[in-house]
This record gives sequence, C-alpha cells and structure tokens, in this order.
Amino acid sequence: MQKTITIPEEFQVKERIHQTTYLVDGELREWKGKNSEVISTISSTDTYAHTVLGSIPDMGEPEAMEALDAATHAYAQGQGVWPTMKVKDRIECMESFVKKMEGKREEVVKLLMWEIGKSLPDSRKEFDRTVEYIYDTIEDYKQLDRDSAKFQKHDGVYAHIRRGPLGVVLCLGPYNYPLNETFALLIPALIMGNTAIFKPAKHGVLLITPLLEAFQSSFPKGVVNILFGRGRAVAAPIMKTGRVDVLALIGNSKSANALQDQHPKSNRLRLVLGLEAKNPAIILPDADLDLTIKECISGTLSFNGQRCTALKVIYVHEDVKDEFLKRFSAVVDTLKFGNPWDESAQLTPLPEPGKPAYIQELLDDAKEKGAKVYNKKGGEPSDNFIWPAVLYPVSKDMRVYQEEQFGPVIPVVSFKDIEEPLDDMAASNYGQQVSLFGKDVYTLSPLIDTLANLVCRVNLNSSCQRGPDVYPFTGRKDSAQSTLSVHDALRSFSIRTFVAFKDNDLNNETIEQLLEAKVSNFLGTDYIL
Ligand code: G3H
Repeated sequence: MQKTITIPEEFQVKERIHQTTYLVDGELREWKGKNSEVISTISSTDTYAHTVLGSIPDMGEPEAMEALDAATHAYAQGQGVWPTMKVKDRIECMESFVKKMEGKREEVVKLLMWEIGKSLPDSRKEFDRTVEYIYDTIEDYKQLDRDSAKFQKHDGVYAHIRRGPLGVVLCLGPYNYPLNETFALLIPALIMGNTAIFKPAKHGVLLITPLLEAFQSSFPKGVVNILFGRGRAVAAPIMKTGRVDVLALIGNSKSANALQDQHPKSNRLRLVLGLEAKNPAIILPDADLDLTIKECISGTLSFNGQRCTALKVIYVHEDVKDEFLKRFSAVVDTLKFGNPWDESAQLTPLPEPGKPAYIQELLDDAKEKGAKVYNKKGGEPSDNFIWPAVLYPVSKDMRVYQEEQFGPVIPVVSFKDIEEPLDDMAASNYGQQVSLFGKDVYTLSPLIDTLANLVCRVNLNSSCQRGPDVYPFTGRKDSAQSTLSVHDALRSFSIRTFVAFKDNDLNNETIEQLLEAKVSNFLGTDYIL
C-alpha cells in the first residue's frame, strides 16, 4: 500500500463521487446505463498515479431527446410559465438558486482543484466571481426592466418595448472555467425567460453535481435540464432536430462549427460563442520592462496559459529583445510548481492527460525549424506537467505560431517595424485582445487607433483578461460571436419585442384599462426597485 502524499485534510478525496442522476423536466432521474470514469491528473500517492474521482453517466440520444422535450415543453413556443412569468418572479427563482449555490462553495472549490488543477486562490475566485456575476445580472435585469416600463410615441404610434426570450438554449462551457464561463452563459439565458439544456465540459464535470438539487428546487420544471456525456453523443442529436434556438458555447470553433452544421435551419439559430484566440503582446522599445515582464508572466502563464485570453505570442522590438528574453526567461524559471492547494503554487498540473505530449510536439517542431529554448527549465517534463519554454525566434511556419497552444509554452517573435505585428494580426484568424507595452503617447496613439479595429480590447501596459465582468467580452473574426458582459449577455439572449398602437380614443382607453387590470405580465409600467 502506498502512503498518501501530503494533502491537507480538507482537500483530500475520501470518497469517490458516482453521479447517478441527471436533471430533466424538474426530476432528478436515475441513470442506469454506462458510466465514464472521472480522473484527476493529480496523484494521491508518492509514486505517480492519476486519481479516480468518481464517475458520470455516459448518456446518448434518448436522454438528449428527453431533455430537449422538457425544455421545449417548458418554453411552449413562448407560452410556458417561465417565458411569460413576471420579471419579479423570475428574479425570485434566481435569488433562491444563488443562495443555495453559495452553500456549496467548499465542495465546488475542492472539485475545481482536483478536476482541472486550478490553484486554491483561483478556484475560490472562480466560485466567488460566479456568485457575484449572478447578483450583478439580477441587478442589471432590474435596471433593464425599469428602463422599459414606459411608452414611447413617434409619428402618432405608441410603443411599449421590452426584451423577450428567444426559446430553447443549448449551453456548453469550457474546461478552463467550467463553472464561471458556463454560468456566464446559462444565468443570463435563464433570467431572460429562455429554457436550457446544459452539458458540463469534459473536465470539470463533477463540480456541477453539488448544484443539481439547487437547480431542481429553484426553477419550474423543464427550465433547466442537465445532461452528462460526450458532446458528440448528446449535443449533436439535439442540434439535428432544429429545435434549438440558441447555441451558447465557449470552447473551440471545431465543435461550434460541427454543431451549427447539424442544425437544419441555420438562419433560425442564434449564436453566442466564445472561441479561440491568439492574443499578442507587443513590446515597444520604450516599454517599462519591469512592468512588462510582470504582466507578460501573468498574461502567458496564469492557469498555465489555459485561458482564451492568455497572451499566446510575444512580439518584442529588436532594441529590447535581448534584455527582455534574458530577464523574462529567468523569471519563468523562478515560478513555483505545485498541487493546487500548495501555498503560492503558480504553475499547477495540467488536467488533460495528453497536454504535456502536445506541448512537447510544439517544442520539437519549433526547434527543428530554428527556435531555441531560452530558459534552463523550459520543456522539462514531469508526470502531469511540462515546464513552460520561452521559444525564440519563432517564425510563421512553426506550429506554435499557428496553433492556439492553450498551455505552457511562450513563443517570442522580434520586430523592427511596427507594421510587422500589425500585419500579422490583420492576417490572423483571431481578433480577441492585444496587450500593448510602451510609454510615448505619439507612438501609442496611432497604434491604439489601429489595434482597436483589429481586436476588441486593447490592454495598455496590462495583460489581457476577460474581467471585470461588467466590461464587454467579445472578439472579431473566428474568436467570438455576440458580446458577453453582465449587461450585454442579457441582450445576447433576448430580442426586442413590443406592443404598438395608433394614437386614437379606442386604443388609449383600452391601454388604460389594460394597465389598470394589471393582468398582463408583458404590458405594464410597474417596476421593481
Ligand atoms: O478562457 C477565457 C476566459 O474568459 C478568460 O477569463 O481573462 O478572466 O481569465 P480571464
């Protein structure tokens, strides 16, 4: 028997979680079919071995259809209880959910660490940020409701304009933010009156299970349906029916395109997508190198580079290239690798078992084509990690330049003329964000003007990031479709719909009576504070 490595008592996996229920039509149904094992790449023993965390149902088309029927029925072509419910009542359901969710913090945080290897502070941050996102969404929805509790009049026509739901939403999130990014889709979709089918990401799936009962008991039946299994087995059959109105997906464009293609009426399908990115850092000759290095470290390596917003290529001006490479590489080697609960661990195990080998392939390809690894520990393999390598000079024929690495490897390109990185960005398939490092305002100004049209967020002397969540999160080209932020997500998951009437005695009297009767949930000038 191997002895257990030092894992703090509260973070030890004492019992495996065998998830045997799934949520459909307001019921936690018992699953009797095949299961898939859920493993963590983190070892529980001195000699390395992955840890089995439990299992999840391996569902297929019949369960996918059950969930779709439940969501369709709950929406009932816009006539269901949920889509026609008063704003106040929908908010009450959401408040009830978030309160129950808050009670599950410790369980979810522990699973975030084991399932995806996220550090303890970052796992706590992911949970707290999600709770805050839900409260902010509720407040923004109230404001939206207040703003629309009125009539407008133009050219003799009155209008009472609100935002209405779109229908059934299929919601799929990524493994790097399995809670936050998934809920940043699901919560606004629900609060606007849509019904949803949600399938957790491939990694970070057990952490959803403590929340199943909260979903079941907070929303009317069929409003939220939760399935487990492979995307191809459950999401594809759902899309094929053409009964999905919105595909909400944060992940990669291959899955997004494959799912979109299944839908028989693509013109009907709304898309809310957050996809790949290859955000560059551009370092100008006058950049403050201390600050630049600090921001490039967090930009390239927070959560081991597994963020869509991560800096995935660094362009550095020839004049400061040598100093930057020397100092940056030295800092990379001082970072601390450890398990998620280890104090001050900045690099943590990679949750995808095949990721170290993939990063190694990128390194081999780059080295073969002329790049050198600048830091001593770069590429050093361990059981569930590969040390981040600073690669220079990186050229366009290398895989590490072309592919979104989504892991610990840092390609560096040098430039003489600023047009070089700008042309590369213009030619790129991606257009999410950029980090621009420099001081001279006369150099920065025209660059900011150009960069703002190539990406959707220009970070000045700062790493790229999604937050704060009140700011718009989107991208150009293949990086995104629709905009997410607390405010924008409510718009992305709804459509403007209104009641209009010509200004005459009959209509004015009818509207007055309608307002007095207070029986329409749509038409009304009351609002909640
Ligand atoms: O994976 C992409 C995430 O939206 C990144 O979010 O910048 O807050 O880490 P973040």
